[in-house]
Amino acid sequence: MAVYFPRMSVPHPEVVSLLEKQLTHEFHAAQAYTALGYWCDVQHWSGYSQFFHKQAAEERTHAARILQHLADRDVVPQIGALAAPKKDYEDLEQCAQAAYDLERNNTRGIHEAYAVALKHGDFPAQVLLHWFISEQVEEEAWSDKLVAKTKRAACAGALLYLDRHLEKELSGTGGGGE
Ligand code: FEO
Repeated sequence: MAVYFPRMSVPHPEVVSLLEKQLTHEFHAAQAYTALGYWCDVQHWSGYSQFFHKQAAEERTHAARILQHLADRDVVPQIGALAAPKKDYEDLEQCAQAAYDLERNNTRGIHEAYAVALKHGDFPAQVLLHWFISEQVEEEAWSDKLVAKTKRAACAGALLYLDRHLEKELSGTGGGGE
């Protein structure tokens, strides 16, 4: 007996809109991490700089996941306009806090998109967003740790150590993951 596989329906416009908003958030995070990376580079915090540049690359892959999901469902995605990222910071503590705030905003957007995918019974979007929901648990964990450890490194020597060993100090919370 032939098995009938219906063509996957295109997503509801409200789901599309929230996914487009989220992929734009991801691009914004990529720009913001790039700016953080260069601020740290100029201040000679090379460990922080490398870490933020790596996060920027990851954020672009996150945007690409959503873009491809929409394209696979016959939607040409609208990429939103990006506000210029913050350029100047006072110190590493502000940089760490900025990273934490970016991740909190990303989580909020993903949860909003998931709620709309649930409302419309959009199973493919829910599965896509499951990955992001788990990812954000890791992203918030390492960014929270980044803030705490940066604050705790009260003297120059402690900050130099942290800069040199940042990846290791954040490991176990997805700081080195995708
Ligand atoms: Fe794509 Fe750091 O969240």
